[in-house]
Amino acid sequence: MAHTPSRGDRADLPIPTREALAHSARVVAHIERMIATSGGWISFADYMGAALYAPGLGYYVAGSRKFGPAGDFVTAPELTALFGETLAAQIEAVLVQLPGSSVIELGPGTGRLAADVLTALASRGALPERYWLLEVSPDLRERQRAHLRDRVPELLPRVEWIDVLPGHWRGALLANEMLDAVPPHLIARKDGAWFERGVETGVAGEFRFADRPLANGALRDAASSRFPDDGDYASEINPAAQALVRSLALRCDAGALLIFDYGFPASEYYHPQRNGGTVMTHYRHRTVDDPFFLPGLADLTAHVDFSAIAHAGVAGGMSLTGYATQARFLINCGILDALARSGEPQSAAYLREAAAVQKLLSPAEMGELFKALLMSKDLDVDLIGFRDGDQSHRL
Ligand SMILES: C[S@@+](CC[C@H](N)C(=O)[O-])C[C@H]1O[C@@H](n2cnc3c(N)ncnc32)[C@H](O)[C@@H]1O
Repeated sequence: MAHTPSRGDRADLPIPTREALAHSARVVAHIERMIATSGGWISFADYMGAALYAPGLGYYVAGSRKFGPAGDFVTAPELTALFGETLAAQIEAVLVQLPGSSVIELGPGTGRLAADVLTALASRGALPERYWLLEVSPDLRERQRAHLRDRVPELLPRVEWIDVLPGHWRGALLANEMLDAVPPHLIARKDGAWFERGVETGVAGEFRFADRPLANGALRDAASSRFPDDGDYASEINPAAQALVRSLALRCDAGALLIFDYGFPASEYYHPQRNGGTVMTHYRHRTVDDPFFLPGLADLTAHVDFSAIAHAGVAGGMSLTGYATQARFLINCGILDALARSGEPQSAAYLREAAAVQKLLSPAEMGELFKALLMSKDLDVDLIGFRDGDQSHRL
């Protein structure tokens, strides 16, 4: 996600090229066919899943720019290599407890974080046995391979791409801004009755929301245990994100799951004032209040319910070992020292890094909304990132 992207008025959004519009039209046609073959309605999770991941079409699998200044959003590793360098301190603390173990990264984006973490681990003399990248997008896989070939050619023999989660893993598993890209269901309670908010095709051929009585008991139970007690309310429930984390935890023989993303504990996520949920559309560094805006060209995300994610990890046999704001985690792991080492104060390089670090740490940007979560199994890990500072962030 872009750090505090500006809210786009449709009139000032950049106009897509003719090819991009033709691509979006193909994505729309694909989703229309899905809706037609499903009896006129699909869940929002299916809509978002297709808009982001439909083979050859979805936002993450087709070749659009996505990351960086020319894309739609900027993530922490795209802002500065100091993010990965700093994370490496906590990863090293895991690896030293588990000699011969590996790192797995989920949703590695451009590969920049992998290159930064590997470089930092190499300089600490703490390289993992293997660095596995699990990426669903063939397009991004190629970009990751090219980036790593450029940046760390000597470490490539340790790097491997995987299609599915390994049956067992030992070491550190890293996911930055990956869970927000897992499609949630939208659930609504109106006059005491439960509905699933899905998508249908309107009379003019446009996509629009449509509510259907909620048939799925598990989704209803999840929503009724989290939503505020009274009144009409709508928000997301994300069983796929929970299932993924539970499965990661179950497959862990010993190690730590290290998750960074924007989100809240359930008490804040399902706050009465957050009625309507957190789904956001990102296009060229603007937030658009319309999930049906240019399907295939815009990113769709939802914030992470960290309480649900922690419960899923515990259900898979892990313990919740650390939860903090991103700012606190990065400061504890030494990002300010890393910044001081990055160049002469007043040099252009230093000032660029300082501006990026300011974005990562500022409560108004990525410092407070973004959280770090560490879950572990059979591991007595030094919790470097969670030692000092404000302890009030609880799940
Ligand atoms: C917002 S991007 C973040 C990329 C990168 N981690 C970063 O910080 O720049 C989300 C990434 O998650 C990937 N992704 C989404 N669902 C996934 C899944 N189930 N397994 C692995 N990767 C997934 C996407 O293809 C994309 O690379």
